[in-house]
Amino acid sequence: MGEQKGYIAIYRRFRPETFDEVLGQQHVVRVLRNQIHVGNVGHAYLFSGTRGTGKTTIARLLAKGVNCLNGGSGQIAGDGAVRPCGICEHCVEIKNGVFVDVAEIDAASNNSVDDVRDLRELLVYPPQLGRKRVFIFDEVHEFSKQAFNALLKTLEEPPPNVLFILCTTEPNKLPQTILSRCQRFDFRRVAASEIAGGMKAVSVKLGIDAADDALALLAQNADGSVRDGMSLLEQCVTSGDSSLTRELVLDVLGSPGDSAIAALTDAVHVGRTAEALVKVNEMLAEGKEERRVIEEWIDWLHSALLIKFVKDPRRIISRSAENIDEIGRASAGYSVEFINDSIYRLSKLFNDSRWSPHVRVLLEIAIVEMSKMENDGSHSGPAPGA
Ligand SMILES: Nc1ncnc2c1ncn2[C@@H]1O[C@H](COP(=O)(O)OP(=O)(O)OP(=O)(O)O)[C@@H](O)[C@H]1O
Ligand SMILES: [Mg+2]
Ligand SMILES: [Zn+2]
Repeated sequence: MGEQKGYIAIYRRFRPETFDEVLGQQHVVRVLRNQIHVGNVGHAYLFSGTRGTGKTTIARLLAKGVNCLNGGSGQIAGDGAVRPCGICEHCVEIKNGVFVDVAEIDAASNNSVDDVRDLRELLVYPPQLGRKRVFIFDEVHEFSKQAFNALLKTLEEPPPNVLFILCTTEPNKLPQTILSRCQRFDFRRVAASEIAGGMKAVSVKLGIDAADDALALLAQNADGSVRDGMSLLEQCVTSGDSSLTRELVLDVLGSPGDSAIAALTDAVHVGRTAEALVKVNEMLAEGKEERRVIEEWIDWLHSALLIKFVKDPRRIISRSAENIDEIGRASAGYSVEFINDSIYRLSKLFNDSRWSPHVRVLLEIAIVEMSKMENDGSHSGPAPGA
């Protein structure tokens, strides 16, 4: 908003500067924190796992942790190890990528082979300012054979005061000889609730009043990747408002929205096939995506089903109270069979549509069948043409 010059993406602006800010990955954070605290950091690490889950972020935290000027075992603030502090000179320089003893090498870039070849010459010098020289190799699976060989030699006889951190989304592409010389950490998809929590904190910092159900929806769509989640949040907030609602998120995601879905379901339920087809075509004409429509529809029906059975559905449905009430009202006249059959049919459609170039036709066929199903006498409901 108004930040044209030098604009930095949200996910970069809010990259964690201390371990406290990391979402999820507790199995990694706990061990590394402790190793930094007791001064027992190894010489080679491999961070593997899904994209956007914190590998590069935590590699930098580890680089800072071993070079941070604050804290450390002799000087503990508060209830534990404080390294990295995120604010001392070294931490800030590492954050800005200008600290002499930390090098980040992207294996996907051209000169990385030479970089690694030169590595061994470089390694004869001790760290200049920090306690350890740190080399972060990003996308390390892209290394050439020569680069791996050069790296392997240094890993076999690690020089003192050097730390290697290898990051990759494809650890299976690394030679076994490299794997076996690293402490390995597998990064996991981050839970939607954690991502939503992180987005909440970012929203507060940006002065945006974000509704919980809006963030929950965004977080679900991030599919475990914090970066994807933050990018989605970015798309929503750059569209202008200082508040973020579920409706806005639905719009940005290209989802049809609850009231459109409710009207569609209603037309199908009473067997007004033509009306249902027109409604779907209106959604698509507005630029909603077929598979999004199907997904949203399933989600809506799923909520309707839960509302029928669960006394306090708010606890298990990530929607606002008003939203839940609306769905409850709209679906009050639906039989459980109708809801179930519709969910089955749409789920199958969602699967089938994955590889089909004719999703729209398949969706229309499903609508025709669903509106027949409810009105051919197999379930309770108004008679056709009533
Ligand atoms: N666990 C996390 N906690 C908090 N923020 C995170 C986390 N993971 C990722 N992020 C956010 O996403 C951005 C990208 O994260 P990072 O570069 O660490 O991902 P990565 O795992 O290295 O991904 P890739 O495999 O694509 O290199 C960060 O700037 C940060 O804003
Ligand atoms: Mg990375
Ligand atoms: Zn520091």
